[in-house]
Amino acid sequence: MDSLIVNSRRPLVGETVVQGSKNSSLPILAATVLVGGVCQIHNCPHLTDTDAAISILRHLGCKVKKGINTVTVDSSAVSCFNIPDSLMREMRSSIVFLGSVLGRMGKAELSAPGGCEIGLRPIDLHLNALKIMGFRIEEDYGYIRCEKVKENCSSVISLSFPSVGATENIILAAALSKGRTIIHNAAREPEIYDLVAFLNECGCKISFRMQGTVVIEGVRKLHGCRYTVMSDRIVALTYMTGAAITGGDVTLHGINTNHFRTVIPVFESAGCYVEDRKSQLRIRADRGLRAVRDIRTLPYPGFPTDAQAPVMAMLTVAQGTSVIIENIFESRFKHVSELVRMGAKIKIEGKVALIDGVKELYGTSVTASDLRGGAALVVAGLFAKGSTVIGNVAHIDRGYEKIEDSFKCLGADIKRIKQ
Ligand code: EPZ
Repeated sequence: MDSLIVNSRRPLVGETVVQGSKNSSLPILAATVLVGGVCQIHNCPHLTDTDAAISILRHLGCKVKKGINTVTVDSSAVSCFNIPDSLMREMRSSIVFLGSVLGRMGKAELSAPGGCEIGLRPIDLHLNALKIMGFRIEEDYGYIRCEKVKENCSSVISLSFPSVGATENIILAAALSKGRTIIHNAAREPEIYDLVAFLNECGCKISFRMQGTVVIEGVRKLHGCRYTVMSDRIVALTYMTGAAITGGDVTLHGINTNHFRTVIPVFESAGCYVEDRKSQLRIRADRGLRAVRDIRTLPYPGFPTDAQAPVMAMLTVAQGTSVIIENIFESRFKHVSELVRMGAKIKIEGKVALIDGVKELYGTSVTASDLRGGAALVVAGLFAKGSTVIGNVAHIDRGYEKIEDSFKCLGADIKRIKQ
């Protein structure tokens, strides 16, 4: 496994274009299975997770060509409806292929995705919804078999929790099925809107009603299209925490600041100046950071759980005591022990983290336990005295395109040691 060595203590300064969104490109790549034609997906980030999705597409019979940040998928000849454990295990969010394979083939067989470092990641909401839509679901020994047994899948589904993955799977399973499917309490993350925009570009009829209601009118056939994936709002937030902790001045391009409505106030409460310029954002933090008392992660448009770890890293050196409540995942504090090794003062009480700001962090060897927790260690390393050596960088490579290059272009002293 590669490692990263971070020797910074310099302010991050400069401008950068934010990569394409991992959490939008994955469901869109899965959705190409429905199309039965050629789709060109632009601004697709080059990540190990997108590589895993491409392996599944090829296994299903799609022809896939990878450019620098463009993936061309020809799904005319999809012939397979089962995804082996080896491919499912490569990426936990492979479960999003369930809806698209079901939608295209009328049946799907795949291994249940295990839990991961941040939680058990159950899929009960996905499966209950598919049952309501009339799909037969069998589960045994970790395998899931689904089959369409009703021609018309018209149904009304009320999700008990606005699950992103469940919303995506319902939309993908309903897009080509006869009838009207209505989802109440659907997830409202921007990535859902990006997936629907892609599907409608291919000929789907999907619309949004009052907050959290999605209506899918099944259509018979789709056609290929060209589509540009939205930028990655969590990668953008990670750069913002790097600028904040180093007292830097960074401008981010290619973003949509509407996606940052509940996050910008957190950076402003911490003492940062944020200039909102719609498709770009400038953040300056030249006066040191102040603690933020009430961050609680919530479904969108609330504060995103994926930003919790990098923001916590930033607050380890903010003056005062910050409070973060993690409401979404049951074990998303694995980065805390590594931050404490660097000198942070953090106490965990259940889903509450109390962060007492310290004056210094100290470079040492730490290990990434998950994607965003690993990014948090990089952020802390940008401030720490001495070298921070971060192991298990493969976790970070799942969601950040060459994280060392991105921070280097803003002035950080960071390099990758290839194992
Ligand atoms: C998506 O995961 C994202 N992943 C996650 O990003 C993100 O943290 C999460 O949404 C919340 O925004 C991708 O888009 C690939 P959920 P997903 O279903 O779909 C519970 C990252 O770092 N739940 O909204 O799995 C679940 O246990 C990743 O980029 C059920 O109980 O999220 C969790 O507590 C991490 N039953 C909560 O809902 C279900 O059937 C949120 O899950 C499904 C979910």
